This record gives sequence, C-alpha cells and structure tokens, in this order.
Amino acid sequence: MTEKFSRGLEGVIAAESALTYIDGQKGILAYVGIPIEELAEHATFEETVFLLLHQRLPTRSELQKLSEELADQRPLPAPVAAILKVLPRQASPMSLLRTAISVLGHFDPQADDTSPQALQAKAIKLIAQMATLTAAIGRLRQNQETIPPHPTLSHSANFLYMLTGKEPADFAARVFDVALILQADHEFPASTFASLVVASTLTDTYSAISAALGALKGPLHGGASEQVVQMILEIGEPAKAEQYIKEKLARHERIMGFGHRVYKTYDPRARILKKYSQKLAEQTKDTRLFEIEQIVEKTVIDALGSRGIFPNVDFYSGTVCYYLGIEPALLTPIFAVSRIAGWMAHMIEYVADNRLFRPTTRYVGPPLGHYIPIDKRA
Ligand code: SDX
Repeated sequence: MTEKFSRGLEGVIAAESALTYIDGQKGILAYVGIPIEELAEHATFEETVFLLLHQRLPTRSELQKLSEELADQRPLPAPVAAILKVLPRQASPMSLLRTAISVLGHFDPQADDTSPQALQAKAIKLIAQMATLTAAIGRLRQNQETIPPHPTLSHSANFLYMLTGKEPADFAARVFDVALILQADHEFPASTFASLVVASTLTDTYSAISAALGALKGPLHGGASEQVVQMILEIGEPAKAEQYIKEKLARHERIMGFGHRVYKTYDPRARILKKYSQKLAEQTKDTRLFEIEQIVEKTVIDALGSRGIFPNVDFYSGTVCYYLGIEPALLTPIFAVSRIAGWMAHMIEYVADNRLFRPTTRYVGPPLGHYIPIDKRA
C-alpha cells in the first residue's frame, strides 16, 4: 500500500466517478460529459437531476415521469411541517434544514435501505422536499404562513412560489433554474465527501445528508455566498469598492466568493451567473450592486489573479438570488436545494461498489513508552 500524505486530501483521488468532470486549469465543468454551458443554455433542473441520477439524459416520457414524481413528493409530512414551526425562527437556516432532514428520516420506512432502488426513491423524495423545507424556513423567518407546493409548476418555479406566494415571471423562474443546474454537482467538495464517508458505513441516508448539510454550511464552502452579498451591501457604493477590498487584502483577510481548491482560473459557473446578475440588475434598474461586483472582481483579480485566485460560483450566485428577492440567509440552503441532486447521485454511484472510507494518519507522537503511576509524575 503506497502511503500518500496531503493536507486536506488536496489532489488525492478518493474514488472513480462517471458523474462530473472538472479541469481546474482550463475552467471546464461537465456533468456526465455534457459541458455546463450547454446544460445552462438548453436543459432544465429536472433534466439535470435525471442526468445525474441515471448518468444519461431522459427521454421526453422519462422527464415527464420524473416531474410527476417530484410533484408527488413535494408536500412535507405534517409532523415535519409542525416541528419546523416550533423551532427558533431566527436560528441558522442551514441548521434548521439539517434538523428538518433528520426529522424527515423518521417518516421514511426506507431510511436504512441502501439498495439502488431505495436510494433512487430517496433521491426523488429528498430533492423534492429540500426545496419545500427551504421555502418553509424562508417563510417562517418572516413570520409568514408556509405555502403548500403548487401542483403544476416546475421545480424552480415552485420554489419561488412557495417562498413568495406568487407565481414567478418566466425569466425569474429560468434564472433560478439555471442557478440550480450550475450548483447541482461538483465532484468531491467537502459536503459531498462528508456524505460519502458517512454513507460508506451503510448507515441511513438521512445521516449522510445531515453530514453534507453540516459541511456545506461552513463559510469556506457553501456559506460563502451569503457573506458575498453581505460584503457587497456593506460596500454600498461603487466608489467605495476598490478601497474596501484593498484594505481587506492589506489585512490578509479572505475575500468571500474568490479562490478555489480546484479552479485556478475563472469558475465557469461564475461566468454564467455573472451574465444573469447583469441582466437582472438591468431589469431591476438598480445596477449599483452589479457595478460594485465588477469593481470587486477587478480589484481582487488584479491583486491575486497571478496566484490563481478568481471568482468562484458563490461570488455571483448570491446577487442573482438577491435580485430575485431572496434574502441572503437563504443562499446556502438554496445551494443545498440544488446540490442534494449531486449528493444523492454520488451516493447511488459509490454505494453500488462500496468501500468503507478509512484513511490513516502519519504518526508524529511520542515513541512507545509506559504508564507512569500518578505519584511518580512530576
Ligand atoms: C465552494 O470544492 C468545491 O467544489 C466547492 C464548491 C462546490 O461547488 O461545491 O465549488 C463551492 O465551496 C466554492 C468556494 C466558496 N468559498 C469561498 O469563497 C471562501 C473564500 N475562499 C477561500 O477560503 C479558498 O479559496 C478556498 C477555501 C475556497 C480554497 O482554498 P484552498 O484551496 O484551501 O487554498 P488556501 O486556503 O490554502 O489558500 C491558498 C492561498 C492562501 O495564501 P497564503 O496563506 O498561502 O499566503 O491563497 C489565499 C490564502 O490566504 N487565498 C485567498 C483566498 N482564497 C485563497 N486570499 C484572499 N481571498 C481568498 N478568497
């Protein structure tokens, strides 16, 4: 067995997968061989879900069946909806989501079943209900009544409907759909890897997804998007942006939404989201936030681009959702609304040829010695 030590497992191949291909130097991202740009242009989130769960695009009838299955699974079990209502409404939305997923597990008779059929069924259930849960958490934070799913709207349009109470305009629904497509999978980020470490013990699916949510919450991972929006709002005016960033860099502070363990060039997802952020800014006639973003982006790239630090997906996903009227605190849960598809796709793929994850350490402690009785200790 060849020993290989790499802090944070950087560059270590932990599994083989047919799902997502990333070239971090060229800024390439593809799901099952299809470039993300083409999926963002032509596909829907439902098609992307099918592509990841089955490793091929669906036929028209398969897509229709998937949409119907998602619609059937969207409503929450009544006790889960009731528990959400008694939890602290201003608690971290990601922590509330993690709690709700754990509770959901109690109402799923297949929770412990790791067969391919059961994992596929749980994937549909979790993809459907992650959106319903996130919308409910968003409503309760505003002390508003939760809104049951609309029977005929698409997954993205339904999320916006359950969050706002209004059927979204076609463009808003499309932009949100593209945001979900772009964040649906990304190979082995911390949250996906965490879920697989747990799933590889053949425990229940809800324990694995709870672990993924815990990892995604972190500011070094999915938690960055909320901090990006807070930063842009704090800057407030385009004229203040350059100085603000330069002062942060002078203090050796990290700029949220920039840098990536894999991408050492522009994150292809950020490139697509940037276009939508600009279109939404122009549509809302308030281009101030987008102007600030452009100055922040230029200032950071001028300073750190030579070290491979460029905008990542979180830099623009935040303002896209902000322009759609979504509060920053919901941004990371929305990341989970999308990434639950990738988490389940990797679980289905990995568990089918399962190997318990159990890395080792390079021991750097004291040499072997002996127990010292307490009255002989200094
Ligand atoms: C996501 O892995 C995925 O695929 C994740 C994701 C997905 O789809 O699942 O793409 C989603 O999590 C995107 C990343 C969101 N996080 C952020 O935006 C937080 C800010 N970014 C960083 O903290 C950082 O870039 C990471 C955590 C994303 C990656 O960091 P690495 O690979 O561990 O690199 P590092 O922390 O060792 O940094 C290397 C150097 C350091 O300088 P030195 O200490 O060596 O002098 O680059 C600097 C860092 O200080 N650096 C930054 C920086 N990111 C790295 N400096 C300023 N601002 C930044 N954002």
